[in-house]
Order: sequence, then structure tokens, then C-alpha cells
Amino acid sequence: MAAMCSIIGYVGEKNLGQVLLDGLSRMEYRGYDSAGISGLKDGKFVLLKRLGRVKNLADAVDSSMNLGNVGIGHTRWATHGKVSVRNAHPQISCNGIFSIVHNGVIENYESIKKYLVKQGYKFSSDTDTEVLVNLIEYHYNKEREPKNKFLTSVQKALLHVVGTYGIAVLSKDNPDEIVVARKSSPLLIGVGDGEMFVASDACAIVTHTKNVVYLNDGELARITRSDIFITTMKNKEVNAIKCELDWQTEDVSLKGYEHFMLKEICEQPQSLENAMRGRFSDDMSTSKFGGLQLSPHELRQIDRILFCACGTAWHACLVAEYFIEKYARIPVEVEYSSEFRYRNMPLEKNTLVFIVSQSGETLDSLAALQEAKRKGYKTLAITNVVGSTIARESEGGIYQHSGPEIGVAASKTFTAQICIAAMLALYFGRLHDMSFDEGAAFVQALLQLPEKVAQVLEKKDEIRLIAEKYAHYEDMLFLGRQSMFPIALEGALKLKEISYIHAEGYPAAEMKHGLIALVSEKCPCLFLATQKDILGKTVSNIREVKARNARVVAIVSEEDATSFGYIDDVIAIPDVHDAIRPIVATIPLQLFAYYIAKIRGCDIDKPRNLAKSVTVE
Ligand code: F6R
Repeated sequence: MAAMCSIIGYVGEKNLGQVLLDGLSRMEYRGYDSAGISGLKDGKFVLLKRLGRVKNLADAVDSSMNLGNVGIGHTRWATHGKVSVRNAHPQISCNGIFSIVHNGVIENYESIKKYLVKQGYKFSSDTDTEVLVNLIEYHYNKEREPKNKFLTSVQKALLHVVGTYGIAVLSKDNPDEIVVARKSSPLLIGVGDGEMFVASDACAIVTHTKNVVYLNDGELARITRSDIFITTMKNKEVNAIKCELDWQTEDVSLKGYEHFMLKEICEQPQSLENAMRGRFSDDMSTSKFGGLQLSPHELRQIDRILFCACGTAWHACLVAEYFIEKYARIPVEVEYSSEFRYRNMPLEKNTLVFIVSQSGETLDSLAALQEAKRKGYKTLAITNVVGSTIARESEGGIYQHSGPEIGVAASKTFTAQICIAAMLALYFGRLHDMSFDEGAAFVQALLQLPEKVAQVLEKKDEIRLIAEKYAHYEDMLFLGRQSMFPIALEGALKLKEISYIHAEGYPAAEMKHGLIALVSEKCPCLFLATQKDILGKTVSNIREVKARNARVVAIVSEEDATSFGYIDDVIAIPDVHDAIRPIVATIPLQLFAYYIAKIRGCDIDKPRNLAKSVTVE
């Protein structure tokens, strides 16, 4: 059983081992605990599996080793069946006819296994994946019709499966083919010149080809070096529609940075510009989006907006709530996707549901989308990954255009989501009561965003020096009011995720109602004290924690910096329009967490226990 793992496959003339290992290492950020590859050489599977990093597997593959011209590879993140070489993928069928890699969960694997055991099948792992590959072999051995026997056997096996899967299968009797299939687990085919690739994530193949075919749920494909044949589980042939990836090769390399996370933090002036490009009206008084699939008239009828998301994306939704309620006066609800899907929430007829997901693959968010659609609400997605499941299943949406995010902890995609939220607030605001002048000022503020973010990034070294003073603590509180509250939540999440310091985000005043019990010289507090209208209130909260001997670091506006002389550490950010302040204030928090994690020697791009896209409940 494998849930948050990666799949790679290749058929062609290139060095198979290299293509598979390179693909797996580009997907390492997704989180895994074992890795394996298999090739098909002279009618036999060559199988290599190792625990731990892809590097351990690469060490076992001699570059001169000939693995054949067709192969599959996998990184596994164990859910059921412990971390072991025998549970790692690829899994080979009992009689050695098939090799499979699998992402997802086969829920009814126990009953299928029982049946297969009765039929004489032997098992050598604890995985549901081995059950599936043996079920394929079982159907293959029963199949009378020699034409398409490989594809048909995979299809027949999958018809018995309850659960989710992305699979790539090799057959020793069909040495030029890979058969793939998907249900709720991403899979795409890369089309090269006389070669084909299979991957669960485009970043694994973008250095080889930008031409891709996305497989839809319920589809299977037979892939040779020059041909793709796609069909559905119900035998309906499907045209392979090629798309071009808008990612660059350098997007998936470190470009001289020590970590992807630092690179991605520093890319924000560019990613924010990308999020806004082409999205302002000609008169520069409002924003426009190509993919909403709703007319201005329909959008005017919307009387409530619901945002569903997980983790960092959920924090971005909380900022969206402040923005849309403030600028467009439309009531907004924000819910965790995992809660929404089981909550049976009553909503007004004209509710618009936004699903926000960087990866577009988070299972809980996908389920929230499906639940909202089932109830008949209009659904739109905000996502970074073109062709992702959430992008395709929603009725329309907005792409972030942040480029691939490799660091597991979200950074540039969070600020892009807030930027899109600000543009949505502007759009809805202008549909309602926001004046032309207010709209024009809003647009000008957004246009300044990349430059303001760049100014904060220049403070990198200053922030690193401050981080050094906090790296030894084990607890920390992040406090902010209004739209700075979600930023406090995000600052605390970043610190937790990559440095393993316990941190909590809280509304600054709410602290008095319990959290303050934690405040002491052992528990420093970070305040977001940037908003002029409520500055006095936040300052009172700062004094409350100072009186309890807590060390304080405050993010403040440049104009106010001198009045914070009594605070231990101050990071001044440009004084900007309310609509872009949460983004500008996020940058120092990302850098603060990054440098603390670095000082503590943590594995910043691949924090323990975390995966980039969470495709389990
Ligand atoms: C935190 C982080 C996660 C994700 C969450 C949702 O740094 O990256 O909390 O935000 O797993 O992922 P997406 O946005 O891909 O749905």
C-alpha cells in the first residue's frame, strides 16, 4: 500500500536506470521511505529496491548496467505494511509475468487476497499492491483472446478493485509496452521523440519533454515508444490530448541555492508577478480572470463564498475571508476540506465554493470539491498545477502560475494564493460598491507588490542574525490581529514544519484567554504589529508578554520602527496598502523559519513525516 508516493516509467533508447533514478530524485520532495525500479531485459525483470533515499538505490545501480528499454520506478511512503524491502515497489506477480508500481490504496485487498490464495497464489509482501499484480496475473491466465490481453487483464483486475490507484505495469510477454491506469491518483504521460515517459508529477520528466497527456480518472493506457492508446474502464476509446507544460527546466534545479525552500522564497517577486500577469482590466481599475466560467451577472448573484482547503492553503483562505468581506462585503466562510466533506454544512442557494490547493491533488480537498458539486454548488479551484485532478474536476478556476514548488513546506505558492485572493476581492468589490478610484488604487498597490517583496528579501542577512537568537528555544508563539492572524498561523506552521520547534499562532488579544499561561522567558513571542488602525491594541499585547519576561520579535512598518525601541528584535517592512500587507509580512516569517531550521541542522526541503501532496485521508 502506497499513498503519497511517486511513479516513473520509461520506454525508449535512453539509459533506463538513469531516466528512472533521475525522475525519482526529482520527486523526492513528495516524501517516501523506500525506492525501487524494475526493467525488463531479455524476457526477465531486473529488480532493485532499497530502503531510505533514492541515493541508496542509485548506489546499487552501476551506470553501465543494462536494464533494458522499458522500466518503471517508485518511491513508497508506507501506510499499511511496514517499511521494508519486500514491501517496497515494484512488486512482481507470483509467476513473474508482471511488475507493478502503485500509488493509492486498494481497500478490498484482503478479500481479493483470500480468493487468490485459494487459487494457489503465493504472496511475499504485506502490500495491497502485490494483491493487485496477482489479480492481473490471474485474469491474464484466464484470458482467451490474445489481442490486447495485457491491457484487458489490467482492466478486468481493476474492475474488482475498491479504492484509489495510479499504476504502471510491465509485462514480460509484452516487452515494448507499459500499461497505466488511474483513479484519484495523478498520472501523466510524457511524449518524446521515439520515447515515452510516465510520471505521477510533471517535474519528473520536464527535463526530457514538455509535451504531456494527462490521464483522467477511470482511464487506462497502453504506451509504446511511438504510440498511446487510451480507453476507459467501460471500453470507450479516448483521444490522447497533448498539452504543453509551462515549466522550465531550471524550475526543478537548485540554481545555486542551498535549498529549494530558500530558492522558492526568493522567487516570490517573480511568482507574484506571474500570478497577476494579464489579470487587470484595460482601465486598470479591476482584475479579470479567464477561467471563472461565470458571467459578471452570475457572479453578482453570489451571496456567500465558501473556501475549502488544508494546511497552508487554508491559511491563505482565511486571508481571503478578510479581504472579500472588507472590500466586497460578501460573507465568506472558510472550512477545512476534511471537515467540510463530513459536516453537511447548510449553505445558501447562491453560494460559490472555492477549493484552494497548490498541488490540486490533496485528497481531502478533492473530496470537498466532489461533495460541493454533488450538492449542486458552483465550484471553482485555485491551484498551481495545471491538469491536476482538482483543476480538472472543478467547473472553472484560477491557476497560480507559481512554477513547481519542490520544498515540502509551501512558500511562494502561499503568497500567490493570497495575491489571487486580493485580486478576487477587488473583482467582487468592483462588481458591487467599490469605486473606480478605490479600484485603481488597489491595482496600483498590487503592481507594487513584487518590488516591496524584493525589498524585504534584501533583509535576509538581518533576519538570519535575528533567527540565530531564537534557534535554541523549543516553544514560540506567533500573534497578530485581523488579516495578520492567518499570517501568524502560517508563521507558526512554517517554524513547526521545518525546524520542529513547537509553535502556535493566535489572534493577539485572544492570548489573554488562555495562551498567556505559556508565556515565560522560555517562550518567545513574535508579533505582527503592522496595522496602524489597531497598532495601540497590539502594542498593549506586546507589553503583556514583555511583563512576563518573554523575548519579543516584532514585524512592524518602517514608519513605526523607531517607536519599538523597547522590543528585543524588530524587523521593519515597507508600509503598504492593506491588500498586500499580509504578503509582505509573510516574507520575514518564511526566512525566520528557514534560518532557524538551517541552524538546527534540519532537512529543510524534506521535513520528517511530511509529504508534498497528501493523497490519503
Ligand atoms: C505546509 C503545506 C501543507 C499544504 C497542505 C495542502 O507548508 O505545504 O500544509 O498546504 O497539505 O496542500 P495543497 O495546497 O497541495 O492542497
